[in-house]
Amino acid sequence: MYIRKCGKKDVKSVKKIALMAFAANKKIQKKILGNSIFKTFYPDWQKKKEKTIEYLCKSRDCRIYVAEKDNKILGFASFRLSKDKPLTAEILTNGVSPKYQKQGIGSALYKKLISELKILGIKYVHVNTDNEIAEKAYEKVGFSKKIQTTNYFMKI
Ligand SMILES: CC(C)(COP(=O)(O)OP(=O)(O)OC[C@H]1O[C@@H](n2cnc3c(N)ncnc32)[C@H](O)[C@@H]1OP(=O)(O)O)[C@@H](O)C(=O)NCCC(=O)NCCS
Repeated sequence: MYIRKCGKKDVKSVKKIALMAFAANKKIQKKILGNSIFKTFYPDWQKKKEKTIEYLCKSRDCRIYVAEKDNKILGFASFRLSKDKPLTAEILTNGVSPKYQKQGIGSALYKKLISELKILGIKYVHVNTDNEIAEKAYEKVGFSKKIQTTNYFMKI
């Protein structure tokens, strides 16, 4: 397996992996929130995810890396350099094809992002997540300072 920059030809595979990878989280969120709140706050989450990936590919401040084995994309991870906070960057959407999760691919992708950010002179990196598996994966590559936020929802 090796990690390289995402090219235009990879966008379709990255979108497909993103939808597969996030489906389980969305299923859990739907169960917690109930159908009506979930549908109201996350309508067409799949389309939004695809649009995000298209944006990340085009934006000059963002980069996506893909993990590839035997000509197959297994996972991806992205970052954005901050425009207004010098020396900082944010890890953005990332995912590993469910079939290939828990094999070190996510960690390898995060390590690659971090090493590329270091090369770019970035000194601080931030990431935000709403799920415990991703938390563990981020902690595994060294993230430790944490501020937790809670999202409340109510039908009124
Ligand atoms: C988060 C994600 C990218 C991690 O990818 P991965 O290739 O499975 O990660 P790794 O194999 O490198 O695992 C890293 C650590 O994460 C944790 N982890 C990964 N999968 C786990 C699971 N199913 N259950 C519990 N912990 C898990 C473990 O602590 C693991 O370290 P370990 O293997 O030493 O125990 C993957 O789970 C995913 O695609 N999730 C859905 C999309 C998502 O939530 N993305 C992050 C958005 S913020």
